[in-house]
Amino acid sequence: MPVLLNPYERLMMKLPTTPSFSVENKRALVTGASRGIGLAAAVALADAGAHVTLAARSLDDLEVAAEAICKRCAEGPGRADTLILDAADPASIESAIASLPALDILVNNAGIARHAAMVDVDMDDFDAVMNVNLRGAFHIAKLVVAAMLAQGKKGSIITTSSQMGHIGGVDRSVYCASKFAVEGWTRALAIEVGKSGIRVNTICPTFIATPLTESTLNDPDRMSWIRSKIKLDRIGEVEDIMGPVVFLASDASALITGTSLMIDGGWTAG
Ligand SMILES: NC(=O)c1ccc[n+]([C@@H]2O[C@H](COP(=O)([O-])OP(=O)(O)OC[C@H]3O[C@@H](n4cnc5c(N)ncnc54)[C@H](OP(=O)(O)O)[C@@H]3O)[C@@H](O)[C@H]2O)c1
Repeated sequence: MPVLLNPYERLMMKLPTTPSFSVENKRALVTGASRGIGLAAAVALADAGAHVTLAARSLDDLEVAAEAICKRCAEGPGRADTLILDAADPASIESAIASLPALDILVNNAGIARHAAMVDVDMDDFDAVMNVNLRGAFHIAKLVVAAMLAQGKKGSIITTSSQMGHIGGVDRSVYCASKFAVEGWTRALAIEVGKSGIRVNTICPTFIATPLTESTLNDPDRMSWIRSKIKLDRIGEVEDIMGPVVFLASDASALITGTSLMIDGGWTAG
């Protein structure tokens, strides 16, 4: 029998509180933030109230981006500043991370691609991709998490992996190897730091229109392969990653760690 509540009891019924999607007063670092997915992540976090440090190699590009974000957020709490960081250079990573105040959010996004059939892969390209996508991202997460632990800070680590961290792709043996590896350390780190309240996840986009994918998306053969795989029948835009980044950075995802958020239009569904 259902329990019938009188009007007073109905009024007093305690509803759950919707967790906040705001990241107001949070301090975030986004690497690879001067364009593409990283820039969109930085804008999304600033729009949601965070103070965001945009990092990459080119200071000129970063300053243009940070200035535009600050202009847009002028009336609200969102802020942006810049940091030179080369994810391929351990010394640059160490000095850049050491220069930062306590962080709540890391979007570990800097990444590159060098595509070729595996039998044709130039091993210098292999080293270059691994150095940024795997070693660099690992090193940055390691230092940021070490600082969070030392400061007793809870936080959210979000690494831009890829759908290619879960499946294979044509000419993508090196890229897939780098992103599958990111998926591995993400889970291991989540186990290590869960008790300290630090969450560790990846976002896994499909093909998103950015400077990185321009040549692939201009190739009709590749385009028909891509269109045949994306169930929602369109290429991704950088706006598609903005909601997922804010979600994973905010308390709205408080019980989510050690996993991947697919942003793939259904590619990996089958
Ligand atoms: N676009 C896609 O379809 C797609 C799909 C899945 C995953 N992803 C991943 O998403 C991330 C961003 O991709 P994107 O498409 O936005 O690329 P993008 O348009 O080429 O932008 C790359 C960003 O990373 C920076 N960067 C490159 N090398 C760096 C280094 N050594 N150290 C620091 N920053 C560096 C670039 O600035 P500087 O050159 O000034 O350093 C730029 O800000 C990558 O990890 C990529 O693997 C992309």
